[in-house]
Amino acid sequence: MEIIILPTADDVARTAADAIEEQVRRGPSVLGLATGSTPLGTYQELIGRHRTGGLSFAQAQAFLLDEYVGLPAAYPQSYHSVIRDEFTISVDFAPDAVHGLDGMAEDPEAEAARYEGLIAAAGGVDIQILGIGTDGHVGFNEPMSSLGSRTRIKTLTRQTRQDNARFFDSADDVPDHVLTQGLGTIREARHLLLLAMGEAKAEAIAAAVEGPVAAICPASALQLHPHVSVLVDEAAASRLAHREYYTDTFGRKPAWQGL
Ligand code: F6R
Repeated sequence: MEIIILPTADDVARTAADAIEEQVRRGPSVLGLATGSTPLGTYQELIGRHRTGGLSFAQAQAFLLDEYVGLPAAYPQSYHSVIRDEFTISVDFAPDAVHGLDGMAEDPEAEAARYEGLIAAAGGVDIQILGIGTDGHVGFNEPMSSLGSRTRIKTLTRQTRQDNARFFDSADDVPDHVLTQGLGTIREARHLLLLAMGEAKAEAIAAAVEGPVAAICPASALQLHPHVSVLVDEAAASRLAHREYYTDTFGRKPAWQGL
């Protein structure tokens, strides 16, 4: 894992956008997209580079991490709608190049299998954006998710429903169930970008990065991946024991290495 501590949330967004831009400019790419508040700055940055810097997503495909069960795609809080409104509608993905899970599928297991097949048929994900929950979830793999899990239905914790209540009228309106890529699925992406900003994420980041690999902190499973960039602002890094080492290492990193 490479832990990169940046002064502000804007720096996190710019650095994540740099990595995605580099991938997209390399040729046809498969992007893994997260929803929630964390990647919004990155999406804004990419939209800006599309509008003024000629960055094109026409050769790219994208896969969403997760979706609420029981919300039709057209519902504003569905991740299908959120990713369209916050990002994909403002750039130039080809029609049908952005894939999501169907939260209304009658057979969630079949839907999960279909989605895994679609990712495999696309050649796997090149670069995956991830946020982290205050309980250490990535995707919607809540604590005690199998570290080898595949796409499937999960039940959200009360904490996550409370955390996500801001997108709904109340916590009671947040669906109980979600379809999410599993930790095993996520770990097959070739490059993982884990982003976190703000003090509220500091404990989860410390557990994920410096704690043991354990299902109680699902994000700790990323320690098993060969190419993870953890981009955090000072506040999210505030509980890391080895902050100085990470900063020193990044400061002396040869520019040619990239992320
Ligand atoms: C969203 C997702 C979640 C969020 C996490 C953090 O697709 O998979 O893991 O990344 O809940 O949410 P925010 O960014 O809203 O703090």
